[in-house]
Amino acid sequence: MPDTTEPLFFKSPFDLFIDHAEGAYLYTRDGRKILDAGGGAVVVHIGQGREEMARVAADVVSRINYIVPVFDSAERTALVERLKRWTPPGLTRFYFTSGGSEAIESAIKFALLCQKTRGRGTRTKIISRQFSYHGNTLGALSAGHNLRRKDYEAVLIDWPKIPPSFCYRCPWGKTYPGCDIDCANALEAEILKQGPDTVAAFLAEPMMGSSGGSVAPVKEYWPRIAEICRRYDVLLIADEVMTGFGRTGRRFGVDHWDIRPDILVGGKGLTGGYMPMGMVAADATLVEQCERAGADFMFFTYSNHPLACALANKALEIMERERLVERAATVGARMGARLKEDLSGHPMVGDIRGIGMFWSIEMVRERGSKIPYPPDQRVTMRVIDAALEQGLFVYPSRGMAGPAGGDAVMITPPFVIGDDEIAFITRTLRTAFDTVMASL
Ligand SMILES: Cc1ncc(COP(=O)(O)O)c(C=O)c1O
Repeated sequence: MPDTTEPLFFKSPFDLFIDHAEGAYLYTRDGRKILDAGGGAVVVHIGQGREEMARVAADVVSRINYIVPVFDSAERTALVERLKRWTPPGLTRFYFTSGGSEAIESAIKFALLCQKTRGRGTRTKIISRQFSYHGNTLGALSAGHNLRRKDYEAVLIDWPKIPPSFCYRCPWGKTYPGCDIDCANALEAEILKQGPDTVAAFLAEPMMGSSGGSVAPVKEYWPRIAEICRRYDVLLIADEVMTGFGRTGRRFGVDHWDIRPDILVGGKGLTGGYMPMGMVAADATLVEQCERAGADFMFFTYSNHPLACALANKALEIMERERLVERAATVGARMGARLKEDLSGHPMVGDIRGIGMFWSIEMVRERGSKIPYPPDQRVTMRVIDAALEQGLFVYPSRGMAGPAGGDAVMITPPFVIGDDEIAFITRTLRTAFDTVMASL
């Protein structure tokens, strides 16, 4: 067996070879056991190694491997029927992809198509927020503000951005955590500045994921955003790739605010990592309007893949049967309380925030002023390395310290963890913080 994965395009910061996984644990080839408190890349909701998922996979592959996405299948029908019970009311038309970026790209294109078929072809701008990651394709990168853009700036679309919903370096000069709806009002100002006739959609995560570290806006934020979008006929796209399917303790992040986006994008937890899959859910009236206008929406070769549909359907069935969304809320609340109790006094901890199974810890050089560590100290990666040394994986994030970044780790475990795992997470992180502080 080869010892290295070097022939791939990208370098790994880790020297880990995973042999198998079970529940919330990864097992390396050299016999180490690692608690995956990142849920991989915030993906693993139902836990790994479930027999019934393996049986579904074997059954589907033995009957059907591939059909063109325009053919229907029992797998697709069953998933669509189940998803209608998960998505906000009215969002009953679906488009499946192979991952989150493809789904974001498709949602953006669908929003443009909706505006065009309404006779508003001049509406071509997608407004998004600073500090957002929406994916890795060119359209998704254009809507994102992330270090990952820098090599492609020359070809990215120059879409407008509004301030984030919550920030230590508040653009309105407020003191954390005193942010209010000014960030939401900034959307209206931006629409007016650009000219409403040029704006197709507003795209944002209900709660910021990896580009901010589990940042939820104030309670007035989303209702105000929804109202502004309605007033100016701007479509509202919720990027729920990270927050969707129970991660925040509700089915979707938007459910915390009772708002209904026009388009909702999902991925990650949809199959819990058992298959690559993304999803766009759209308001049925929008799809019907496009259909009436004769618009054609091209599929990807692997759209609606039967195996992906079947595994997503089973993953959601398991979440329903085991009440895992409710579990994410209750066990997640216990985990958050424990993180705060055990770690908020640590000298390098600037903030602990989150909800459900969607928590982050921000590391800062000065707690009071939230002054971040210099980026070249690579504090996030050092904390992750120190935790891994003791058998814990947490997911890297950026803090809210400003454009240069800031340091944070996400604690986003599978929903099946219990109190023993929570105790291990807090204990191990404490030691990791001590180790890193001593080394700085
Ligand atoms: C909020 C958000 N949107 C979109 C994406 C892109 O998804 P994918 O990596 O599956 O293409 C991600 C990935 O982390 C994400 O966090």
